[in-house]
Amino acid sequence: MSAERAERVRAERERAEREKRLAAEAAAELVAGGMTVGLGTGSTVAYLLPALARRRQSIRCVASSPRTRQAAEELGLTVEAFGTLDHLDLTIDGADQIAPGGWLVKGGGAAHTREKIVAAAATRFVVIADSRKPVDALHPPIPVELLEFGLPVTLRRLAPVALRDVPRSPDGGVIADYHGDVGDPARLAARLAATPGLVEHGLFPPDLVAEILIGHGDSVEHRTIGGSSR
Ligand code: A5P
Repeated sequence: MSAERAERVRAERERAEREKRLAAEAAAELVAGGMTVGLGTGSTVAYLLPALARRRQSIRCVASSPRTRQAAEELGLTVEAFGTLDHLDLTIDGADQIAPGGWLVKGGGAAHTREKIVAAAATRFVVIADSRKPVDALHPPIPVELLEFGLPVTLRRLAPVALRDVPRSPDGGVIADYHGDVGDPARLAARLAATPGLVEHGLFPPDLVAEILIGHGDSVEHRTIGGSSR
């Protein structure tokens, strides 16, 4: 790699990290004392956790993954098992792709099953991202979590699909990626959801999403999608 190219890559990476931090800090401002808060998973959420901890509010959190739980607890946030709360006020999480109408792809970190449960439990689901995440149209890979039982049959039904070389989910699920065309995300989501053996897929519909905060350089774009509120 030329020195010039290496410098461009370094600057882009630095910009993306700044954008993630700004979006995460803007989302932390939405949290008020007394709230129940769902915490997503990933490198953007990694900026959210210290921003929440700095606010020193009395909040009760639920984590969408063991790594988020551990990081949140190390920062002094109160994290509860998701057997004690039947509703969340606000969930904040990152995304891998954001389509113009609010469809998302999640699960690059293999946590999409719990992330969807935590998002769907919230009155308000807020997505935080850097400026590389918006896309004109969703594209593969689409993460999926599968049951081990009957795995070869499930893989055949889902083809083209590839197993991902990562540990199982905390719920014992096998992680894979669907590599076919996305086309209409609603139609693909319905097809994936109807496949026996598929635990959850990484397509998140707009009616789950209230707002999207996207870092752009030194500012944050707020998009209102209008979903959530269950
Ligand atoms: C975890 O499984 C994912 O859904 C993440 O939320 C998503 O991949 C965004 O991650 P980053 O914030 O690391 O880009």
